Amino acid sequence: MDIMPGVGAMPQRSDIDALIDLENGFISREIFVNPEIHKQELDKIFTRAWLFVGHESQIPNRGDFFTSRMGDESVIMCRDRAGTIHVFLNSCRHRGMKVCRYESGNTSIFTCPYHSWTYTLDGKLQGVPLYRSLYDGVLDRDANSLVTVAKLANYKGTIWATWDKDAPDFLAYLGDAKIHLDQALDCRDGREGGSEVIGVHKWIFPSNWKFAAENFLGDTYHNPSHRSVDLIGIGPSAISGKKGRRDNELEHAKHVWISFPQGHGVHSAIQPEANEYVESFLDQPILEEYFRHCYEERKRRLGEGARLMPFVGTIFPNTSYHGRQPRGLCAWHPHSPTSTEAWRFFLVDKDAPKEAKEYLRRFYMRYSGPAGMTEQDDMENWLYATAASTGTVARRYPFNYQQSMGAYTTDHPLGGEVSLQVTEQIARGFYRGWARYMRGETWEGLMGGGTPQKREAAE
Ligand code: FES
Ligand code: FE
Repeated sequence: MDIMPGVGAMPQRSDIDALIDLENGFISREIFVNPEIHKQELDKIFTRAWLFVGHESQIPNRGDFFTSRMGDESVIMCRDRAGTIHVFLNSCRHRGMKVCRYESGNTSIFTCPYHSWTYTLDGKLQGVPLYRSLYDGVLDRDANSLVTVAKLANYKGTIWATWDKDAPDFLAYLGDAKIHLDQALDCRDGREGGSEVIGVHKWIFPSNWKFAAENFLGDTYHNPSHRSVDLIGIGPSAISGKKGRRDNELEHAKHVWISFPQGHGVHSAIQPEANEYVESFLDQPILEEYFRHCYEERKRRLGEGARLMPFVGTIFPNTSYHGRQPRGLCAWHPHSPTSTEAWRFFLVDKDAPKEAKEYLRRFYMRYSGPAGMTEQDDMENWLYATAASTGTVARRYPFNYQQSMGAYTTDHPLGGEVSLQVTEQIARGFYRGWARYMRGETWEGLMGGGTPQKREAAE
């Protein structure tokens, strides 16, 4: 097999096909380390795709704000006096100073620390010092308001935004990945929405953002990395005195890996018909009652649908979720080709008993984030793989994505390309989407032209 030729510092449109060779299952290491490609990603992907910004439970009151990120930009998510949520660029229109330097809080107005221009809670420029004497009273306030996102969606409490006014509506963008993401956002007992963020972990790791996004598409193949965690048993439950594994709930389930035409990918599980609650917290009656109620009520509400148990997934490009435990969303914010800022938002049912919230909070920390045992395993892989892929010789050799080539069906009720075996098809689907953005395709192309079959026919 020929090695893939390295590309120069300035990849051209035609280089994308050389970088992403899906037919043969090879992807160039350049896309994980090359600064020029990184710059193009920010321009071609992060200014167009829908990005996760935060959760409405983080800003429950009027005047509440949470500073977030979209790609490499700082943005403010804010609730105005009327209760409407806005997202705008955290950069003053005068000389670019951050108008808000706090992570979160409550305010009646944003005052720029540099020369004191002030902006209202919906981003409008309000006050300009010496407006009459220095600007002849004619400075156009509307034209100098904070830059607002082109579209914003509140989906079951999660706030998403895009800079592209031509982007499809958020639900169209989600496509058939919706029912998988749903169950990270819905209450444990099957009620729609009703979750709240109980904390956000933020940390930086020395690796490309796509290592993390790809891992959460459903790279089940890396499970040996977590062998020590599984042996110790850090799962949320302690079944009949045994240590909880990470995946107790899915032990007897049939696993599915799905790639969607928009570039999203998920790993979910379908439980057998006879799936009963397993006693898990016998020495903690409040937890036992809560988890049993959630399990049985979810079955009652969703019927057959309750058998679908989402595990992990990535909504293209950089928002991943854990659907069961720990439950939450993670945004992988690119800093540089080899540096990523991870923000993990942990979710619980807003009306869960305080004992359950506290129990889950501890489990989330034990599992995820910079101190979480499982996330440490994953990050170790990403950062060593990055360090070992920046060398001149290493960069000449592409990564191998040949696992389970062609082993999927496009004729499954769950939609997309469904694999019933461990597969890299979801990663190949993610990079197929990545290549479409990098080629600057229209939204019809980015959405896969409706179906994978139609798309393939068009190609
Ligand atoms: Fe904000 Fe000058 S930079 S007022
Ligand atoms: Fe992992």
